[in-house]
Amino acid sequence: MRLLVTGGLGFIGSNFIRHLLGARREVRITNLDLRTYAGNPASLADLARDRRYRWVRGDVADPRVVDRCMAGVDAVVHLAAETHVDRSILDAAAFLRTNVVGTQVLLDAALRRKVGRFVHVSTDEVYGSVARGFSREGDRLEPNSPYAASKAAADLLVRSYVRTHGLPAVVTRASNNFGPCQYPEKAVPLMITNWIDGEPFPLYGDGLNVRDWLFVLDHARALELILLRGRVGEIYNVGGTHAATNRGLVELVRRMMRVPPELVRRVPDRPGHDRRYALDCGKLKSLGFRHAYGFAEALRLTVEWYRSHESWWRPLKRAGGYRRYYRRQYAGRLRAGASP
Ligand code: DAU
Repeated sequence: MRLLVTGGLGFIGSNFIRHLLGARREVRITNLDLRTYAGNPASLADLARDRRYRWVRGDVADPRVVDRCMAGVDAVVHLAAETHVDRSILDAAAFLRTNVVGTQVLLDAALRRKVGRFVHVSTDEVYGSVARGFSREGDRLEPNSPYAASKAAADLLVRSYVRTHGLPAVVTRASNNFGPCQYPEKAVPLMITNWIDGEPFPLYGDGLNVRDWLFVLDHARALELILLRGRVGEIYNVGGTHAATNRGLVELVRRMMRVPPELVRRVPDRPGHDRRYALDCGKLKSLGFRHAYGFAEALRLTVEWYRSHESWWRPLKRAGGYRRYYRRQYAGRLRAGASP
């Protein structure tokens, strides 16, 4: 199977590519990735000699490079996206270009090249905050951040290409991922790497927002299954194994890492911060999916990975762009915040 993966230098993309090449000998992968701030070739350095894999540096919103990469492809797994909610609050422009226009460019090329399957990887954030119960695939979309709105727009575009043009596409909506190779702006790698350095973790608001944590290798397994067995035109929720408040998660990781409570700093909340996400994953289960990793084991693996891969994350945190973002995002908040 010849596969085009977009965003394969990112967190989920790189884990997915390594998983798939390990699980299936017959797969050949072209990874189309622009290498933005969150894309890191070091995440796939171990594949340098694997002739089944190649990276093409390019923008998913550029029709020429997309068309070239799509030639002769059997299936597409589309992961390229701007993903960080806080950044979408600071500036939404890149989110619309990559997440919406990029998806449209890929869909058009997939139609033209008669690709046999298009898996569009999306997020539980498109449902918005759910006070109780679990979001199902047919529920109304109520995105609350510019990031979530851009993903919802892309999901709807995919739907329209299935209905209007008969494109054989499937949509997946995952909950919060964690694991190796996650850029240290997200909550889990931020707390782990800050704590390795004895720095505080900024906990937003009252810390009672609930997220459902999915180990990235389980997500990779779910994407493989949906790629091979998902039904065209369907949407599949991909949830995790552990729903927790941010306070609860912070406490687990803090104890695991033996960090004092003073290194949790309550800071003013994220604007529009969704209170709770929760997914009904019945459809995915009916395809035969079972998680392979328990939550505690996956969290331990993740902490260990950051401890033993400082050469992966330290250069990212030292880079000027990260430091500017961190100051802009947190300096005022940390001054205004307090220990819980
Ligand atoms: O739900 C799936 C989504 O999960 C993905 O679609 C997004 O791409 C991904 O960024 C993630 O969104 P979140 O906003 O939930 O992830 P984040 O890691 O930024 O934050 C997780 C929770 O922790 C959230 O409730 C906000 C809180 N938080 C986050 C940061 C970065 C803090 O309390 N302090 C922080 O410094």
